[in-house]
Amino acid sequence: MIGIEDKDKDEYLCPYLIVGEDFMKILAIGDIVGRCGRNALTFHLPELLDQYKPDFIIANGENASHGRGLNEESAQTLFDCGIDVITMGNHTFGNREIHNLLRYEKRIIRPINYPRGTVGNGYGVYEKNGIKIAVINALGRVYMDPMDSPFTSVADVLGEIKESTDVILVDFHAEATSEKIAFSWYFDGMVSAVFGTHTHVQTADERISNKGTAYITDLGMTGAFYSVLGMERKVIIDRFVTGIPSKFELADGMAQINAALFTIDETTGKSTQIERIFMKY
Ligand SMILES: [Fe+2]
Ligand SMILES: [Fe+2]
Repeated sequence: MIGIEDKDKDEYLCPYLIVGEDFMKILAIGDIVGRCGRNALTFHLPELLDQYKPDFIIANGENASHGRGLNEESAQTLFDCGIDVITMGNHTFGNREIHNLLRYEKRIIRPINYPRGTVGNGYGVYEKNGIKIAVINALGRVYMDPMDSPFTSVADVLGEIKESTDVILVDFHAEATSEKIAFSWYFDGMVSAVFGTHTHVQTADERISNKGTAYITDLGMTGAFYSVLGMERKVIIDRFVTGIPSKFELADGMAQINAALFTIDETTGKSTQIERIFMKY
């Protein structure tokens, strides 16, 4: 668990905590993969909520339906679990039902740097218990499909968002650690938290800058523990060994929930604490 208190003591990593009445907790859950990931949340998220008592929950749902994309039934399952906002990623359009969902369900956002005119919203401002929380989703461009710049796309909307709230969280869905870290420093002090998604592997680099922006390179994955990024091991191994493409199969069995809990001063939007969560069931 990492928090910030004495700004002069260390440039960006202070192991002290401040928790008070005006501090809210936001849970962000890493890429949910298939039925195993959805079931892990249905059956075990209540225990997590009991333990961490978040005020608001964000989850990445780009792999929630059959490992690619998000359909209406899976989205409903996730909302029924208590998730407030679902973010997406490079698999946003992996399921056709997302077109309708993005049109009518404002609790689902897709990366902001898709070309102008793409269905859906790249950010949303939500209200919970009288507090406004903004969530932005953006896609990286290193080893990913071409997109508009995530840096300028997010910068372009920050002014408008800040008219409503300073509590701003960004799901930066990207492959390269360098791009993710650079992104976090570019928005240092301007947003409450930047958390990475997409690699399905949780990183141990959580920190808070002296300007109050919490960061973790990747939240990790919510899905099958004995798997390759949520997929059946044998299929992926065969593919690497032989070089012959084959259809991915979702893995099942013991599940993991990967997430991070952010404590944020709701009056300033600054993060005071970040805690990485890795549960196995
Ligand atoms: Fe992804
Ligand atoms: Fe993913």
